[in-house]
Amino acid sequence: EKGGYEHFMLKEIHEQPTAIKDTYRGRMLADEGLIRMAGVDDNLERIANAKRILIVACGTSWHAGLVAEYIFEELARIPVEVEYASEFRYRNPIISEKDVIIAISQSGETADTMAAIKLAKEKGAFAFGVCNVVGSSISRETHAGAYTHAGPEIGVASTKAFTTQITVLTLMALKLAKQNGTISHTEFMTYLQEMERIPAKIEKALKGDEHIKMIADIYKDARNCLYLGRGFNFPVALEGALKLKEISYIHAEGYPAAEMKHGPIALIDEEMPVVVIATKRGHYEKVVSNIQEIKSRKGKIIAIVTEGDEEVRDLADHVIEVPETLEPLTPLLTTIPLQLLSYHIAVLLGKNVDQPRNLAKSVTVE
Ligand code: M6R
Repeated sequence: EKGGYEHFMLKEIHEQPTAIKDTYRGRMLADEGLIRMAGVDDNLERIANAKRILIVACGTSWHAGLVAEYIFEELARIPVEVEYASEFRYRNPIISEKDVIIAISQSGETADTMAAIKLAKEKGAFAFGVCNVVGSSISRETHAGAYTHAGPEIGVASTKAFTTQITVLTLMALKLAKQNGTISHTEFMTYLQEMERIPAKIEKALKGDEHIKMIADIYKDARNCLYLGRGFNFPVALEGALKLKEISYIHAEGYPAAEMKHGPIALIDEEMPVVVIATKRGHYEKVVSNIQEIKSRKGKIIAIVTEGDEEVRDLADHVIEVPETLEPLTPLLTTIPLQLLSYHIAVLLGKNVDQPRNLAKSVTVE
């Protein structure tokens, strides 16, 4: 049942190339320059003309929502707000009939996310679900939706659900961008072609496994760990930290890299591993200067870099390479080494990776 892998989590990490293909299969026709998503197509005007898109979710799904915020705003130029479902539902939120609310949930059963959707529907918003479990409560409660088709996710720590959620939401953003004319046809085609290359690039990122395991062995006894990223990769830093907390019980925090100097920098010393996502383009130069700040305070730097990077290699204690891609798609690649890093740390510490203490796969109580 674990397909030869020691744990479900590892199996699910390795399934990501296939899971992502399953997510876009039949939806993305790169040769024809077309994206077909029934739930979006049938409501295209409504969604494309949304005054605002509200995303509600919890945990890892909330992180996927944050990545989607950057992608929707960049490509489709529609204002997006991302909310923890549990906060949203209890603060008398301002919702109008022109809003579209997207609920992201692997299980489709999360109580807070479900309640947020019900509330937004009552106020007249159009509700769209991004769920993995077919026929789940949230998928039934929404007006329309798109399944992630990641296949069953058994490990409590979410992995392939996250990357397939990002995939679905990217397709949706591209479709809306095309509809609203906010990206050119050439750009649209470039995205589609690059999406098709993502599974192979994830395969390549997965090959870093042995090297990552070696890094895990060096840092497994750390008490704390900081994760930094900017732009599209800021939510990936949050997700990396959550993965480490959940399965290895090491305290970890994710931060936007530039926020470090407003507080967390005080924590940095030779005992503090800092995982920095420093892929090319975007805010590369700024992240490099953040790395210099960490280095001058003797922090240990584990950097996720673009293949062939030289500059960060000279500064960091360890570098983990991922293939180059279009900047908005980098989260699909930078997430992979962070999943593997927490997996190996947890295994080396002898923790129950698939069933971490105190956690359940779906949280059906508020
Ligand atoms: O099923 P959902 O996506 O609604 O679940 C949301 C969170 O409970 C979930 O992502 C949780 O944070 C995971 N354990 C993360 O690995």
